Amino acid sequence: MVERLALALFFTFKFPPCYFFIDTANLDQIQEAKDLGVLDGVTTNPSLMAKEGITGEQNILNHYKAICQIVDGAVSAEVISTDFKGMVEEGKRLADLHENIVVKVPMIKEGIKAISWFTENGIETNCTLVFSAGQAILAAKAGATYLSPFIGRIDDSSWDGMELIREIAEIYSIQDYDTLILAASIRSSLHIVQAAKSGADVITAPLAPIMGLLKHPLTDIGLAQFLADHKKANG
Ligand code: G3P
Repeated sequence: MVERLALALFFTFKFPPCYFFIDTANLDQIQEAKDLGVLDGVTTNPSLMAKEGITGEQNILNHYKAICQIVDGAVSAEVISTDFKGMVEEGKRLADLHENIVVKVPMIKEGIKAISWFTENGIETNCTLVFSAGQAILAAKAGATYLSPFIGRIDDSSWDGMELIREIAEIYSIQDYDTLILAASIRSSLHIVQAAKSGADVITAPLAPIMGLLKHPLTDIGLAQFLADHKKANG
């Protein structure tokens, strides 16, 4: 009995369920993913905001607020500044927008200083543009809430993005770091499955790979058969 309880506790605390974020600034797509009932948060970046045509500081801030109205979960909003003082000022403005805003900060020297400051001041952060285990250790030491390794961009240069997720997951487990591994730059539904297997705590993906998880031809064939049989039997 005690052993079973210990095992249950181990699995409860060692393997919490993977959180599911959408990686877009498109409000319709965010709403569509939310309507699935499985959405835990949103990540954005300056490129995604620009893609939606959101320009100018006030419009950008309003857009983050609009995202927070749709999703009741973490919303990553990225700073544009690259110096400590600028990042802190910008991050404070972003964090003031809504309690769910997570300040996204690039993995550079000034960024690590800013993450340390945000940590000390109770502001959640997402350390972005992560491509190595060393960077992951530094971000965790600074107290980053989330760490964003860019899987797809690593794969693009013929390295193995998932191997990096596994390496970071192992280090964070050994060192008992609290930072959550947020698998980013996801390009396919297979990436989502692999990231979940590799120990990612959070997966952020565009809408298409999320919807791709639904697809299996045997599901469609099976459903068509069930409905046909029902119709034949019931007229
Ligand atoms: O979350 C980061 C992500 O948006 C980057 O994705 O496809 O531009 O590498 P991608």
